[in-house]
Order: sequence, then C-alpha cells, then structure tokens
Amino acid sequence: MIEGSLAELQANALARIEAARNPEELEAVRVEVLGRKGSLAAVSKDMGKIPAEERARIGKLLNSAKQTLETALAARQEEFAGQALGARLESEWLDLTLPAPGIRPGSLHPVTQIQEEIEDLFRSLGFTVLDGREVEDEYHNFDALNIPADHPARDMQDTFWLDGGNLLRTHTSPVQVRGMETLPLPLRMIAPGRVFRNESVDASHEHTFYQLEGMMIDRDISVANLIYFMKTLLTAVFRREVTVRLRPGFFPFVEPGFELDIQCLICGGPGCPVCKQSGWVELLPCGLINPRVLRMSGIDPDKWNGFAFGLGLTRLVMMRYAIDDIRHLMGGDLRFLRQF
Ligand code: DAH
Repeated sequence: MIEGSLAELQANALARIEAARNPEELEAVRVEVLGRKGSLAAVSKDMGKIPAEERARIGKLLNSAKQTLETALAARQEEFAGQALGARLESEWLDLTLPAPGIRPGSLHPVTQIQEEIEDLFRSLGFTVLDGREVEDEYHNFDALNIPADHPARDMQDTFWLDGGNLLRTHTSPVQVRGMETLPLPLRMIAPGRVFRNESVDASHEHTFYQLEGMMIDRDISVANLIYFMKTLLTAVFRREVTVRLRPGFFPFVEPGFELDIQCLICGGPGCPVCKQSGWVELLPCGLINPRVLRMSGIDPDKWNGFAFGLGLTRLVMMRYAIDDIRHLMGGDLRFLRQF
C-alpha cells in the first residue's frame, strides 16, 4: 500500500519539478514534498506503523525516492540558474571593438590644418619655415619695415603696447626682418603665426588672429615670380584653379605694393554677400621688397631684390569653408570646431 502511494508521490513530484516555470514555483514544490512538513516527511512518520519485516525495505524505497527528487530538484535549479546567468550576460553584453564612448578623438584646428598644408607646400618649393616671437620690439615690428614712429602707417595697426617698448606683434612681417638678419642669401622663407591687434571684435575682426608671411630674395625677382608663387599657393589651398588680380596697395615695406584678390569662390564672379557683391575677395597683400627695407637689414639692393606677402590665415580658412563669422572660428566652441 505504502509502496504504491510512494511511487505515485514520486511521479507526481517529478512531474511538478519538470513543470515548474521559475525558481519560485520550484521552491514551492521542494517545500511541499521535501520540506520538514512535506509529504515525504509525512510518509516517514508513518514508518512506525509498518510491520518490522517491511520497514527496512520501505525505508530504502523512501530514501531512494528522496534522493531521486533531490537530484531532479538540483538539476532543475541549476537549469534556472543557467538561464538567469544567460539572460544577465545577454543584457550586460559589451562590444569591446566599439570605440569607448568617453573618449572623442580630437582634431587639429582648421587654421592649424591649413597652416600645415601651406608649410608643406612651401617646404617643397625650397622655403624655410621660421618661427617668430609674439612679443616683439618696436624696431622689428615697425622701424625695420620702413614704418618710423611718426609714420601714419603705424596708425593702421592698433597696437597692444607692453612695458619697455615691447609690443604684441601686429603682423608676422617682423619675422621677415629676422630672416634677413639670420639667413644666408638667396633666401626663401615663410613664417606662420599668431598676431594681435587692439580691435573691437565683430564678424570679420578679432584681436587675435593668424597670418602667414612669406619672403623670397634672389637676383632679378619680378612681379611675375610673385604671381607665380601666389597662384601656386592659392591653387593648392583651394584645390582648383583660381583667378587672381592685382590692385595697387600701400605698405611701406614693399614697392610696388599690391592687394591680390581672388575671384569669389562662392559665386564665381557675379557677386554675393561673401564678396560684398563685387565678385572679388581681398586675400593677399604683397609686393616687391622696398630697397630701404633690404638696406636696413644689411642687404645690398643693387645686387638683390625680392617679393614678400602676408597671408591672412584666418581669412583664408573662412574663405575655404565659407564661414561668415570669424567668432565661430576663433571662439573655441567645440561644437563648431568638431566639424573639421
Ligand atoms: N603685414 C601686413 C599687414 O598685416 C601685410 C603685408 C603686406 C605683408 C604686404 C607683406 C606684404 O609681406 O608684402 O597688414
């Protein structure tokens, strides 16, 4: 009798263990069957009523049923644990080949990019790249460039004066002078760098901006040489043929002096807001070096001559990317700069 109900109890319990849908249901079965007040415990209590000769056999059966159920229970528990682990691994899965979200690769500022491109170009043309100083003396920034103290050209550049006659350089032209003082002739040099003017800031003016100066001194340099190098430069920067024109321009350190304009790259000539409807954009002041400037730096103008130019790097970047406000470019707003 007891045998039969034990077998039924075991079969029932096994079926319920199998059918349990989650660890909670499984635990309920365990308590009901194997718990202290469970059905197996109830059977063992009844052992006393079993005749002595039967007791050992039934006891064995009871133990084996208990073991079978415990094993099945443990297996099912393990299955649930495995499923839980699988689900957790799935939800916490990381693709370690993706770039880490916290670190953004940086990039060079567009002014630096254009500066490096132009440096590479001029190096390939035999030019030396010179590094000037941002704190200059009055002599190199003005006098040696044929801009004496009483000359009105000084007023064209609102200057940040420092103590002791020094100043924040207003242009990269003083590096020309330092080049003439130190390099052997013939010479080819460029000098990119930061310059400063006491300007009020608006869409096209900043107190701090970038220029790139260039100078070539050799025998029999003419305006044709100047135009050749300037066209080579602009074609490389804009990656297409550009149309240029020269207008007379006054700078005390060149004679003749020019403003080199390029045909507007935005509209191609008919006129637009960027070129102020003129079809041309002023980009590159330049000229043949004034013999007085050569002489002041100890170079004989009867033997040597040359050309010089001063490129507005910031302006050039604005032109290349059609940026209509200098403050976007120099304001340090990373949302803007990350585009480049
Ligand atoms: N230094 C001048 C300025 O910032 C620009 C310039 C004009 C540079 C003519 C030159 C040059 O080398 O030849 O206004």
